[in-house]
Amino acid sequence: MSGTLAFDIYGTLIDTNGVLAALGELDAVGNRAVEFSRVWREKQLEYTFRRGLMQNYADFAVCTRQALDYLCAVYRVELTDADKDRLLEVYRTLPAFDDAGEGLELLSTAGFRIHAFSNGSAKAVETLLQTAGIREYFLDVVSVEDLRSFKPNPAVYAHFLRRVGATGADAWLISGNPFDVIGAISAGMKGAWVKRSPDAVFDPWGIEPTVTVRSLTELAGRLA
Ligand code: LAC
Repeated sequence: MSGTLAFDIYGTLIDTNGVLAALGELDAVGNRAVEFSRVWREKQLEYTFRRGLMQNYADFAVCTRQALDYLCAVYRVELTDADKDRLLEVYRTLPAFDDAGEGLELLSTAGFRIHAFSNGSAKAVETLLQTAGIREYFLDVVSVEDLRSFKPNPAVYAHFLRRVGATGADAWLISGNPFDVIGAISAGMKGAWVKRSPDAVFDPWGIEPTVTVRSLTELAGRLA
């Protein structure tokens, strides 16, 4: 069994909703934590898309911080610098989804070559994987920072393939983010969508995921 896997990190292996508890503890956010977390993530990604198009790269952590500043302004939530630093610290050590360890173990046993491939810096992704206790499953971490651009620029998927010595026909992008799956397929890779919620919608662009799974534990069987 062989095959190369490019594992997306945020929203696929690592749960960005891990900030909910810390958000809920802030009086200024209170019962809006779920909405706040969702919009924070949407804005963070929007900033990566825009910076990619503008060719005005900044580290993913900068996009995360600036999205938080934007949210505070738009929701008129006054957070101290210490509150923001605490939220960003939580972001640096977000938890893995419950199925991550078992899914990776099954894929590893099946002989797949597993790489992390993220918008996050290599250092940030290393920290997340170490903290979540799943670093051992990865051969390496490939970050878009090498190209100073972001997904879904086709150049970053081509960079991944070059870095790991694979061709698109042999390599899967595994992601919970539809834009990432579409980006990878459009760049010549195969794409597996991890549809974590029954309500999740895949963008109707006429490009379908090669495979759709509900959890990471389903993956090994479906990719074989
Ligand atoms: C990543 C973003 C897409 O980890 O969440 O690359």
